[in-house]
Amino acid sequence: MFDLDRLAPALRRALACPACHSALETTPGGLRCCRCGAGYASHRGYPDFAPESRMKSGLGPFYLQDPLHVPRYEGQTRAAFLDIMGGNWDRLLTPEDEDRYLVRHLDRTDVPLLDLACGAGRWTRTLAEHLGSDQVIGLDLSPAMLDVIGTGLPEVAVVRAGALQLPFADRSLGGVNCSNALQLLPDPRAVLHEASRCMRRNGVFTAFTFVRAGRPARRYFQQRHEETFNVRAFSPGELAAWLDSAGLTLTDLTTVADMVLLTARRRPA
Ligand SMILES: C[S@@+](CC[C@H](N)C(=O)[O-])C[C@H]1O[C@@H](n2cnc3c(N)ncnc32)[C@H](O)[C@@H]1O
Repeated sequence: MFDLDRLAPALRRALACPACHSALETTPGGLRCCRCGAGYASHRGYPDFAPESRMKSGLGPFYLQDPLHVPRYEGQTRAAFLDIMGGNWDRLLTPEDEDRYLVRHLDRTDVPLLDLACGAGRWTRTLAEHLGSDQVIGLDLSPAMLDVIGTGLPEVAVVRAGALQLPFADRSLGGVNCSNALQLLPDPRAVLHEASRCMRRNGVFTAFTFVRAGRPARRYFQQRHEETFNVRAFSPGELAAWLDSAGLTLTDLTTVADMVLLTARRRPA
């Protein structure tokens, strides 16, 4: 049972109806919007804000929803994905490097923070340890992922929702992180706009994703991976332009092989 009153006050105020962005109240079966009356059922401890939503097609989205694969995701396939999409064969970027990047670029004032497309929670845990577990909320569309994070990190609230219609009020979040997901999300430019809508002035956006390989042979294998798994790599210029048009000013862009870690701050509206 998901109870709004168990959330820290700032997170309680931030969580809102994804349809009209108004306040929610707890009901016996889940949550209800105080304004438009939309109801959202709770399943296995998390509210479902997107009961009709399905992930896009393709092998990547299939694996990320497959209960047989999801327990192997963090330990095995995530690293293999970074090898092929990011050219990370020599472990130029380790999970600990990703941790250090987040800790270095996120301040304890950047809360409440949404871990957008949190998956099984490896980096949600880093965020919770750094910022406080009651200041972080995970969001994902895959029930299999939410089941794993719900078991492994029960102290962090999670919700099921789609990245294009976030269940948060305007300017209510101090930060949004999106690790290893922009390349997979539908319409990533619109996702950045939606994340920015929820962020307050000077709020922080951090992300880890992939850039197009420069070497032709590398690009060939990356492109084949994109087609097979229905994902895409970006150009750094494209990411910078999309962030800018979403009202986010890029403050750091660190490239490692064909992977990118970035930080941006929300400009005043
Ligand atoms: C590759 S995983 C990354 C998980 C985690 N952030 C990490 O770094 O390991 C991408 C996640 O995006 C989620 N996802 C895919 N499409 C989504 C959407 N439209 N809205 C929200 N989450 C989505 C998947 O379920 C999956 O858990």
